[in-house]
Amino acid sequence: MSENVQVVVRVRPTNKKTCFQVQSQTIKTLEPPVKSFNFDHIFDESSSQTDLQAELCSKYVLNALEGYNACIFAYGQTGSGKTYTMRGGTANPGIIPLICEELFEALELDNTTVSTVTITYFEIYNEKLIDLLGDTSPRVREANDKKTFVQDITTFRVNRVEEVLEYLSVGDVKRSVATTRMNMESSRSHAIFTLSIKQKEPDGSIRESDLKLVDLAGSERANATLGIDNGRRMKEGSNINKSLSTLGRCISQLAKNSKLLIPYRDSLLTWVLKENLGGNSKTCMIACISPTDLEETLSTLRYATTAKDIKLSAIMNEIVPNVNEDMKAAIEAAAKSRKELELLRAEMSLLQSEHNTKSEQWKTHEKLLEGFKHVTKLNDFLENQLKHEISKSRDLQRENKISRLDKNNTQDALLRIVGALFVEHTRSPKSVTIDNLVSDLDDFIIQLDNDISSIV
Ligand SMILES: Nc1ncnc2c1ncn2[C@@H]1O[C@H](COP(=O)(O)OP(=O)(O)OP(=O)(O)O)[C@@H](O)[C@H]1O
Ligand SMILES: [Mg+2]
Repeated sequence: MSENVQVVVRVRPTNKKTCFQVQSQTIKTLEPPVKSFNFDHIFDESSSQTDLQAELCSKYVLNALEGYNACIFAYGQTGSGKTYTMRGGTANPGIIPLICEELFEALELDNTTVSTVTITYFEIYNEKLIDLLGDTSPRVREANDKKTFVQDITTFRVNRVEEVLEYLSVGDVKRSVATTRMNMESSRSHAIFTLSIKQKEPDGSIRESDLKLVDLAGSERANATLGIDNGRRMKEGSNINKSLSTLGRCISQLAKNSKLLIPYRDSLLTWVLKENLGGNSKTCMIACISPTDLEETLSTLRYATTAKDIKLSAIMNEIVPNVNEDMKAAIEAAAKSRKELELLRAEMSLLQSEHNTKSEQWKTHEKLLEGFKHVTKLNDFLENQLKHEISKSRDLQRENKISRLDKNNTQDALLRIVGALFVEHTRSPKSVTIDNLVSDLDDFIIQLDNDISSIV
């Protein structure tokens, strides 16, 4: 199903005169000519990291756990708060650490799924890809299905949020940062942190997803970023502007749904983010603004407005065992057994009322034993049905976005029902009376009818 890129704005707090006013989902200039822009969400100057967490982190963690590739990237002029928003500090962690925290919390709650999480962290500096967690020389490659991926990059498997935070700190030390006129710690590169999640369910299905969290370098005018080592800053600046202008061209062509070739290949940044910009991904752009700068902010808001029109086609990356065929066979077998059991029940009732002699009772007993073989088969059917119910509860989770905890509770409840039915119908036939057995079979047939009609 196609879905647009989600675009939100974050306004950096300032004690200088601001040129903009925020009203709910609208931001407009204070001075005439008034220009007004609407977005999915605007985090105003008073917004905290926790506000971003509530609005974005849970949603994108859920997307990733459902098997969708996802991406959140922060865009905006230098000094507008991209690194603060994505990375934050120890006292006020940003989206990257908060997402990791939510992810591990969700995985811990789920004791039926076997999950593996791996991470990579790299930067694009002067049109070169640099591994921030190792000394490899990674390259971007295109797979047969035209999707791009990073090859030969250091990957770490992580089990706890604390481990991720350590790796992030290691990577941040290596990241290219410099002091410029606009920002004491200006990011001179685009940093891309990726969480790859693989989940195996008890029914054998596997879900895989990549969640990319991107802190872009700032869009900037050359004189805005000068400080020390001007020659180097200029070169960095021109490479940053080159990749951001390519990003802009890709965004504008994708937004127009252009039939022209999208120029992903023109910069490393857009080549790496190809799928997240125009393909199989759920993507969010956070446009960061510093509301004191009218022209730069207007340019960011226009850029962000264009991005709202991009349509993506995220698909759930899930491999499901062939449940449908199994279910069909189980339903057919169960329906056949049900007919036989009905005949048996009718015959037993007749025998009880008309020929209640010892030898007839014995014959009935034998038939009952036969009947219980069917019951065992039917329990197999119920187990299959359980699998089906589990996948139905997963669908429900997707539709209603119910929490993983609710999903686990649903599964536990189903397991209990099936467990109870199993015990009920595998009691030794010798230890119960014929009347009880007949009534058990009656109940079981009614139950089975209900089960079959709830599936078909
Ligand atoms: N919402 C905020 N609340 C408090 N401080 C903020 C906020 N946003 C940004 N800052 C502060 O503003 C300064 C610049 O922010 P930051 O480094 O995140 O900008 P940037 O957009 O990443 O810039 P660059 O493109 O140069 O890397 C930092 O000192 C940061 O702590
Ligand atoms: Mg930065």
